[in-house]
Amino acid sequence: MAQGSGEKLRRKWKEDGLLLDDEWVEVTEELLGSGGSAEVFRGRFDGEDIAVKRYLNDKHVESMQREVELMISLKHPNVLTIHGVAIVDDKYHVILPLSANGNLSTFIHGSQPPPDEKQKMRIAQGICEGLSYLHSHGVVHGDLKPENILLDENYNPCISDFGLSQKVRPGSNVSARKGTYRYMAPEIVKQGAYSRKADVYSLGVLLCELFTGRVPYGEGNSRRLAMAASYKTLRPNLHGIGSPVMVALIEECWNSDPARRPTMKAVLKDVKKLGSENQKGRPWMSSFLRSAKVGV
Ligand SMILES: Nc1ncnc2c1ncn2[C@@H]1O[C@H](COP(=O)(O)OP(=O)(O)O)[C@@H](O)[C@H]1O
Ligand SMILES: [Mg+2]
Repeated sequence: MAQGSGEKLRRKWKEDGLLLDDEWVEVTEELLGSGGSAEVFRGRFDGEDIAVKRYLNDKHVESMQREVELMISLKHPNVLTIHGVAIVDDKYHVILPLSANGNLSTFIHGSQPPPDEKQKMRIAQGICEGLSYLHSHGVVHGDLKPENILLDENYNPCISDFGLSQKVRPGSNVSARKGTYRYMAPEIVKQGAYSRKADVYSLGVLLCELFTGRVPYGEGNSRRLAMAASYKTLRPNLHGIGSPVMVALIEECWNSDPARRPTMKAVLKDVKKLGSENQKGRPWMSSFLRSAKVGV
């Protein structure tokens, strides 16, 4: 019996057209990446390159089920799609399109030369588009961080890894399964509860990492840092970000009070504006003028 499958789940996924014929799925030993719940290998399905997510153990079946069922209901260019699931070696595997340029963390910290401002801005905008889409469909991601943002062959960012995601009614809180300490909102650290605004906090930390090129807080014990962020308002260093408007936006996003964080709709509006200024070859220009109160 496949892990946690039960005949019921298998039948349901078959009826939904999600269960792929394993004869068509080839899994190689090339490891593309791993996280807290799974290892992801390169593979091929029906002549196409794919990524195959294999969960580490039965403990993660619930998160796999949540991930699969959420992903099939989502469709947006900045949100990873799903081909389906396959039972290989008696275990469920999630079959995903291959993101040719890996995850955003490797891109930020491993690219030579490092990403330029234009690339960073495009990526930031794509992430905000994807997250706005999720929030407008009632989905809180719950573990937003660079390792969970994938880059396709054109470096378009796709939000992935919905193992901790949940549907949340507007304005309400749900109890959270804990994500990753460095990116975790204070209300999750303190009360274990969250709303859409917890993703906005994580986005602030992510944007800081993207635009400074530094791991948030640098070295140090992640749990202790999250405690200091929650109880003493410690935040990552913003030094080196050219745009005061981007700095202000990040600071708004990681406000300790969820109610004072902007909605994704507002964040996206600001990021698009910064992006179009960047496109015109005047990176950060009007932002400087605005912050200097010269007026634009
Ligand atoms: N579709 C994909 N294409 C390429 N690499 C992927 C893909 N999906 C995941 N990965 C790699 O595997 C890592 C772990 O995948 P993820 O879904 O985040 O697992 P976990 O739930 O264990 O965190 C990612 O950070 C990324 O490096
Ligand atoms: Mg992950």
